[in-house]
Amino acid sequence: MADYRRLRVALLGAGAVGSQVADLLLRHGDELADRAGAALELAGIAVRDLDAPRDVDLPRELFTTDAESLVLGADIVIELIGGIEPARTTILQAIGAGADVVTANKALLATHGPELFEAADRVGASVHYEAAAAGAIPIIRPLRDSLAGDRIVRIMGIVNGTTNYILDRMETEGADFADVLADAQRLGYAEADPTADIEGYDAAQKAAILASLAFHTAVPLDAVHREGITSVTASMIEEARAAGLVIKLLAVCERVVVEGTESISVRVYPALVPQSHPLASVHGANNAVFVEAEAAGSLMFYGAGAGGVQTASAVLGDVVSAARRHIAGGVGVGESTRANLPVVPIGFVTTRYQITLEVADAPGVLATVAGILSDGDVSVATIVQTVEGEEEPTARLIIGTHRAADRALSAAVDTLAASAVVERVVSVLRVEGE
Ligand code: NDP
Ligand code: HSE
Repeated sequence: MADYRRLRVALLGAGAVGSQVADLLLRHGDELADRAGAALELAGIAVRDLDAPRDVDLPRELFTTDAESLVLGADIVIELIGGIEPARTTILQAIGAGADVVTANKALLATHGPELFEAADRVGASVHYEAAAAGAIPIIRPLRDSLAGDRIVRIMGIVNGTTNYILDRMETEGADFADVLADAQRLGYAEADPTADIEGYDAAQKAAILASLAFHTAVPLDAVHREGITSVTASMIEEARAAGLVIKLLAVCERVVVEGTESISVRVYPALVPQSHPLASVHGANNAVFVEAEAAGSLMFYGAGAGGVQTASAVLGDVVSAARRHIAGGVGVGESTRANLPVVPIGFVTTRYQITLEVADAPGVLATVAGILSDGDVSVATIVQTVEGEEEPTARLIIGTHRAADRALSAAVDTLAASAVVERVVSVLRVEGE
């Protein structure tokens, strides 16, 4: 190996991702040094429990429970412990001590990103976070650097591996939600608290990060509309399949004009996607992100969205970038938030919907349902009716709407639910990607 300057690398966390990062850093150190132009010395690994089992064999002498001391002597700090504290404080300490930071912590970036970026800007340090959205897929750099000369119109993506894995196995094997979630946890895809995955919090954090970069606007997490997949049932999946559709948890970030003002919408929900759409064939824990830009047109980024070793690839790419900057000097690339566009509430967003109702099989019911929708400014595109039961037949209505504003649709669904002719609102799903 050439006689490179040595950079001390502190690793915080040796879980699903951290243990793989340590392993690759130790095994491929010489190659990484040639790419970075610096020898990357793993100075230590901070964990909570020195005796906890690890996914890979790592030298015991590297482990410590004293993250603070480890960080203070480091040139590059890799934060892979997750959560808000102590990650936030430790990263701020690292930046204050002159280190460049690499993190995969979307929960932290989505809530305290501006604070971390400002702290780094003040001292000219850099914060790298390629692994914080869509695991191994390069999407942060393309948005921040490659597409910096374009205007992004829309991002639509599957950005959570756990939920895609669950929905995919429910779809292809008829598997049970709870069993598949347990498998996703065992495989290292799920967050420490899997509620973050299945209730859409993780995808919402990633959507906030992607939208902030794409639209040069600091998007606060509470401006992201979020729905999870816990209400998705086997029969909804079956019904979607029969209609040539598949249910995916999507993150959608788009430029919209509301009341004459250029704005953005950022939202996460389970949506119906045509089986012919490329997102429909994203299987397992894979992620895919579609980017539509004014000049570039449509671009698709696809690959492993979760998993320890896959995510370690993105982390190590950031470590090489951080090392290059550290050696070259100068200030890190700051985040651009100058556009500062307003984020519109979900009520203003328009999409197509599919509403499934159980209604009495009686004369006039269809007319009543159509009347409620029409009065609510929701225009019907298709209606499919099936009837079950002989003595007291119940009709199932699957109604496809034209594009409708979310607030109009929600009000109409409330009126339907309260109507005497509707026995049950079975599901209301948005349709995307047509
Ligand atoms: P794990 O829960 O598997 O590992 C967390 C690690 O952090 C453990 O080694 C734990 O120590 C250590 N740790 C936790 N709290 C502290 C603390 N207070 N002080 C020191 N060490 C601590 O997490 P993952 O590896 O799955 O995820 C790490 C980060 O990467 C998270 O931000 C996550 O969102 C993100 N990410 C994860 C992906 C994945 O597929 N898993 C993909 C993309 C991003 P100990 O082992 O002793 O308990
Ligand atoms: N829990 C996350 C997921 C890890 O399932 O996508 C990757 O960010």
